[in-house]
Amino acid sequence: MSSLVPPPAETAAPAAPSLRDARRRSDDLEAAIARDPSRFRVLTGDRPTGPLHVGHLFGTLENRVRLQERGVELFVLVADYQTITDRTAAERLPEDVEGQIADYLAAGIDPARATIFAHTQVEALNQLLLPFLSLVSVAEVARNPTVKAEVAAAGGSGTSALMFAYPVHQAADILFCHANLVPVGGDQLPHLELTRTIARRFNERYAPDRPYFPEPEALISRAPLLLGLDGRKMGKSAGNAITLRSTPDETAALIRRARTDAERRIEYDPVRRPEVANLVLLAALCRGEAPEAVAAAVGDGGASALKALVTEAVNERLAPVRARRAEVAADRGFLRGVLREGNERARAIAADTLAEVRELMHTVY
Ligand code: TRP
Repeated sequence: MSSLVPPPAETAAPAAPSLRDARRRSDDLEAAIARDPSRFRVLTGDRPTGPLHVGHLFGTLENRVRLQERGVELFVLVADYQTITDRTAAERLPEDVEGQIADYLAAGIDPARATIFAHTQVEALNQLLLPFLSLVSVAEVARNPTVKAEVAAAGGSGTSALMFAYPVHQAADILFCHANLVPVGGDQLPHLELTRTIARRFNERYAPDRPYFPEPEALISRAPLLLGLDGRKMGKSAGNAITLRSTPDETAALIRRARTDAERRIEYDPVRRPEVANLVLLAALCRGEAPEAVAAAVGDGGASALKALVTEAVNERLAPVRARRAEVAADRGFLRGVLREGNERARAIAADTLAEVRELMHTVY
């Protein structure tokens, strides 16, 4: 047997671009989408760890629907393998996966145009992980901010090897279908940079004459970040989020308990009064208005008038989403059918990609 395979050194991984550059590039991409949406294939996804909430709706779901309506082809991944890195209770997965699909459809993702799939069900996608792992070094993975945070949280030695593979697995999620556009928050640029590095190195090593994988680009989200109703990060399990499936009464109760302050005058000042500003922002997003206009509408009404306005705005915005959700969630057979069809479409594409990858890697015997 030959000596140890040297670390991939074809190209040094460039640092992720600055957020400013990435934003500028995103503006160019938006213009290109407007000119010719058929050039783009988007992959996005979420791990199925619980109900999607208003943070998802305004942070990413609305944007996906916007892209879909513009005519961009959409792949929406239910990232169920990632829940085993999170160590979520596995018994809940079928229910959480179905719930997430219902949330997608409620938000307006159209299963006739979008491919909604779960990556555990797409064998050939996962098989890309092995060659991809060979294209990055352990040190490169260790520099990934999410991996770094996990390693720190686990006290170093407790980190699973799967956690280490996670950014490389995401590259397989994106590249299996040759997606060339990935909508991300600004904090996720390093992830995408690793995917781009993998695509580039694969091309250099196995397809030098005709690049096989695209180097996908980031479409940076412009949505302002919503905090949870307690002023902390909004989380699926933190109990501080209005979910798409919350009832109007639950929504009212959550908003009633939201943190505010004692000042009568309501204004939009995220630095000095983050909790009040967050409620103002939530209402503004629901009403499609500027936060300043919402603040002015409440004026000297204090926290109680603000909360009344926010409750009405949220319930009004979510009414059609909830109606659609109730409709699809009542038909589990339909939800399962949506996933089955999406999985089948993803499997066919992944099988083609793997066959071509095998050709390029000289592993067809
Ligand atoms: N990590 C994403 C989440 O936390 C889900 C995800 C998995 C994903 N693979 C991806 C997103 C590839 C974009 C691209 O929800």
